[in-house]
Amino acid sequence: MSLRILHFSDVHLPFPPGSFRTPGILHPKRLVALVNFYLRRGSKYARALQKLNGLNEFLRREPVDYLLFTGDTLNFGLEREFTGAAPRLAETLALARRGALAVPGNHDLYTQDSLGLHRRHFAPLVRSDLPETAAETGFPLVRWMGDEAVAIAFNTSRPNFNFWNSSGRVPAVELDALRALLDRPDIAARRHVFLMTHYPFDESGFFHGLRNARALLRVLHGRGNLVLLHGHNHRPYTYFLPESATPLYCAGSLSKEGAESFWLFDLFGGALNPRRGVWRNARFTLAD
Ligand SMILES: [Fe+2]
Ligand SMILES: [Fe+2]
Repeated sequence: MSLRILHFSDVHLPFPPGSFRTPGILHPKRLVALVNFYLRRGSKYARALQKLNGLNEFLRREPVDYLLFTGDTLNFGLEREFTGAAPRLAETLALARRGALAVPGNHDLYTQDSLGLHRRHFAPLVRSDLPETAAETGFPLVRWMGDEAVAIAFNTSRPNFNFWNSSGRVPAVELDALRALLDRPDIAARRHVFLMTHYPFDESGFFHGLRNARALLRVLHGRGNLVLLHGHNHRPYTYFLPESATPLYCAGSLSKEGAESFWLFDLFGGALNPRRGVWRNARFTLAD
């Protein structure tokens, strides 16, 4: 049996009008980020909505069985951003024929008050097939994908008070829950276990990387059926984890001007065929 899975990330939708009419904008981290956004970042994502609509158009043209989204829908985690983006994200995720999973990015969980907003507006868009295995954080989420594959989503994003700190961490309880899931016979026996999260699976700088990447990699060590998916870095790439046959894919950003991308995976039994989606002539297509 064949399966088709699409992985995308880092949409960074523009904020709707009225987003800043809230005391939340006075958070020092947001004020600095706002200046940064207007000076250099914003223009690269100004047409993010067009790119999300382009993904929808691609999905109608080339239907997929499952959609896996690794976060950063928003920019500042404000309420108007959540209420504006939730229906759009729901529309896209509903285009998968059989189901979807999603995790938040650090720009969704931007400050402490974004946590509740995420729980209210984004979390209900996906559900776990094994809700009883989630830690009190609400993750990991599990999605069975046919008889031979499964996706497991765990969260690495968290609000950091200081604007210069965008590091992530797997909560200890989620790491334990993840280990227990990977040890389950019905998961260990699957040919493909897609592990998805926002942050890269490495430390890559104290203020930008995943703080406990080594502990995570110890949990993953020696398991031969993993496929690692992440976002956060706004350029797509793939490599094998050192000294292993475990492939890793970074989706890059769906919407960054000139670098729009996603990954499309076709599974045929034990074979995994990855192809990259690119933006050409105002539509998404597959790279040759
Ligand atoms: Fe991002
Ligand atoms: Fe990010």
